[in-house]
Order: sequence, then structure tokens, then C-alpha cells
Amino acid sequence: MTNKIIIFDTTLRDGEQASGFHLLKEEKLVIAKQLAKLGVDVIEAGFAASSHGDFESINEIARVVGTKDGPVICALARAIESDIDLAGKALEPAYNKRIHTFIATSDIHIEGKFRKSREWVIETAVNAIKKALTYTNDVEFSCEDFGRSDLEYTVEVVCAAIKAGAKTINLPDTVGWLTPSECYEKVRYVIDNVRGRGLDAVFSVHNHNDFGMATATTIEAIRAGVRQVEVTINGIGERAGNTSLEEIVAILKTKKLGECNVKTEFIGETSQLVSKLTGVYPQPNKAIVGKNAFAHEAGIHQDGVIKEKSTYEIMDPVDFGVESVLTFGPRSGRNALKGKYKRLGIIIEGDEFESVAKRFKEIADLKKEIDDCDLIMAVNGDYNEPEYYKFVSYRTIPLKDGFGCIVKLIINDEKKREYSEGGGQIDCAIKAIRKAISGENIILKEFNSRSLGVGSDSYANTKIIVAKNSWEAKGFSTDTDVVRSAILAFINGANRIRYIEDYFNPSR
Ligand code: KIV
Ligand code: ZN
Repeated sequence: MTNKIIIFDTTLRDGEQASGFHLLKEEKLVIAKQLAKLGVDVIEAGFAASSHGDFESINEIARVVGTKDGPVICALARAIESDIDLAGKALEPAYNKRIHTFIATSDIHIEGKFRKSREWVIETAVNAIKKALTYTNDVEFSCEDFGRSDLEYTVEVVCAAIKAGAKTINLPDTVGWLTPSECYEKVRYVIDNVRGRGLDAVFSVHNHNDFGMATATTIEAIRAGVRQVEVTINGIGERAGNTSLEEIVAILKTKKLGECNVKTEFIGETSQLVSKLTGVYPQPNKAIVGKNAFAHEAGIHQDGVIKEKSTYEIMDPVDFGVESVLTFGPRSGRNALKGKYKRLGIIIEGDEFESVAKRFKEIADLKKEIDDCDLIMAVNGDYNEPEYYKFVSYRTIPLKDGFGCIVKLIINDEKKREYSEGGGQIDCAIKAIRKAISGENIILKEFNSRSLGVGSDSYANTKIIVAKNSWEAKGFSTDTDVVRSAILAFINGANRIRYIEDYFNPSR
């Protein structure tokens, strides 16, 4: 028997409803298209009654992505008639549509939130399911706060929901309360007892990450017999988030715990897209999609990976559309370092390599991040920051459409002044610097600016990555003025690129 798991993606509903993750209608549509490309089975597109915007987004996704061969498009609705009407109407254009209705089943919620009885909850759930069936025969019912619900009572609710016509029964750990073994036991109990009464459905879980255990509890629920998992890209969602899609899919695939329709090679690009549109990137050590998920920096690990990848890589990153990298720091290994120099086109052996490796460690010990310029400085035995271009001043001028900027630099002891225009103050300043240093072909690969502090007088910390040919350099700056901080970081990166160029082409 194949263990086929239905992937129900709620990035656009639970993920998007989380603080700081709000998306516009057009952005949601872009993500929904990407989720369809990724191969998820169900897209929960929103909560129609929560806002007019959500209604419109669900409706647009239903129209564009909800095609005959496309995923099931789902809308969330409380067990309230008007919510269900809105969900049904929003889903109207979708070929495959599902209404997901829910009501809390824990006494904490029944008494504290509704101030009603357990009987009232069952009656309300049954009415809601029957109402939803007037729009579609694909109705999912969730026992909100299942994690803290009484088991006997949950079985009663679930049986009533199935009899009313719900095809999928979701057992959410709404507040991330359960440990993995507790989740297994509770889910197993409900499934066994419902089946014991001659009823069945597709059982599902939707777990939150409040104790950091959402992936583990979801895996245990699969072991207990659920056939659908509710997940989000990058694990985004209310509070500490939901179970992350990429983690579950990677576990299913790698440990052969089950099969699903997700085309795993699109996970990397989907994660990037969600990060870009929400403006929130996963932490570097986030499993599968974090920047460091397949980065090896310690010498022992680098040596192992160079000799045999499986020593420190339990999955092939290519399968998930991400890359494995060797990063460099004070604990990097000699073999990896030699390989890196070779890739830069620098062959050093014997005593010469020993001295370079020693100098590299000295440099790396003093720095938070290393780039190609540091590697070349170790070869040259240089410890001073290159300063071909020195910043003097800048002045921005508001224009009708955007800004102009005059920058003054000192290059080779000569003053240089350039002017350029651009959409924003940083854009025109960087363009002016490029002109001044003839740096049009320096590619700005990454630009990050964040505030160090909360007040209007806090510092802007800018970190950039620039590239030319196959070389990469990093530029940093901290300044009270956000534009000057960006300018200084760019000049820092450009100086470091120039240093590399001078090494390879000293006569230019
Ligand atoms: O966490 C939860 O219980 C939910 C339900 C609406 C499924 O998001
Ligand atoms: Zn939730």
C-alpha cells in the first residue's frame, strides 16, 4: 500500500494572517501560481469573511489557479452561516473547491470563548457542514484546539461531523501544545474510535510550532494514520508558525515515510518567492531553505564533504532546489581552502600554502564574514582595508520623478565629483558612485539595510554583496544616515573588488 500524503498548503491563510506577513492580492496570486507549480494538492487561499480583500484574493485564485487540472482551492469559514456563504461565493470559479469550516472543541475555548455548551458546539458544527455542502461536496471540518480537547468528546464531534457530510477531518494542535508522542496517542485514539464506530474520513493535522515541535508532531500524526498535513512555506503562521512544508516533504522523501505530489526541486524558489513578497526571510539555520542549511564551514565537516558528501549531508540539496556551499572562516579546513584558492585560479602548494593558510586564519579570526578579497589579502600578507576610493560627501536633490545625487570622492589623491539620477536616494547615489569609479559592471547581488535600534536616531547597518567576473566581495557600514551608510557599504565592496582585480591584473 502506498502511503500517499495530501499536502494542504495554508501559506496564504494561516501564514499570511501572521503578524508582519500581510500580502497584497496580486502577490497572493503569484504565490498561488507557484504553489500550483510546486504540486501541492490543496491551496487554502484565505478566510473569505475576514476582509473584502481576502474574499477578492480567494476569488481571483479560484478563477486563475483553480483549473480542472489544478489544485483544490479552499477557503476557511467559521461555523457561521454568513462566513460559509462568503467562502462559497469566493470559491465559485474554482473547478475543485473546498470549504474548510471549524469550531473549537476544547473546554478552554467552549467555556472561555463561546460561553456555550459542548452540545451547542456539535449542533453548530453539523449545521455549518450542511450549509457548506450546498456549495461543494468537498467539506473539511476542523476541531480547533484539538490538542487540548477531551478525547471522548472529540470522537463524538468528529462522528457527528462525518455523519453531516464532512470528507476531511482536521485535528489541529492550534497552540502547539502536544509533544510528538502525545500527538501520536491523541490522533490515534480519535482515528481508531471513529473507525470503531463504523465511520471514516481523510484525517488531517494542522500543527503550530509554539514549542518548536510542529514538524515532529506532524510526523507522529502521519505515523498515527493521518493522510493530510496542513503546512506552510518557510513554516510561517500564527505566533511561532505552522509546520513547514519543506521539512515535512524532505522527511517523507528522504526517510521514505510517504509519497506526495510536491515537485521538491521547486522548494528553493518557492521559499525565496514567499520571503521576497512577505519581506521576511527564514533564519539562516532554518532546515532545508535557510542560507546555512547546506553550508559547511568547520574544517572537519568541509574535509568530510569534499571526500564524501553523505558524511555531513543527509539529503541532496539539488533535490530541493537549493545549493550546498563551503563557507570560509577561522575554523575552515586546509583542503577546502586549497580548493577555494584553486577555483579562484591561485595554485599554492607546500610552505607557501602553509603561510597563506596561517595568514588567512589570522584575518578570519578578526572578521565576522569572509570574502574573496580576504583570501587574496592572505596571499599578499595585507591586513589593511583597501582604500582606492575614499568618500568625501554626497548631496541628494529631490526631482519631479525620483532623486538626483552629487557624490564627491577622492580617487588616487584626486577629487572626483559625479551626478546621477534614480528612483530613490540610495539608487541615485550608487549610480553616481559607479560613474565616478567606472564601476558600471560591478553587480550588486545583495543589499540589506537594517536599523540598529528603534529611535529616529538609531544607526543604519548596511551589508552588501557585490560581484565582478566570478569574484564576490562584501561591503559593510554603520551610520546614522541611511543613505550614507549605503554609500559607504558600496564603496567598501567596490574597493574590495578593485583589490581582487589588481591582484589578477596588476598592470591595468
Ligand atoms: O490553528 C488552527 O486551529 C487553525 C484552524 C482554523 C484550522 O488555523
Ligand atoms: Zn492554525
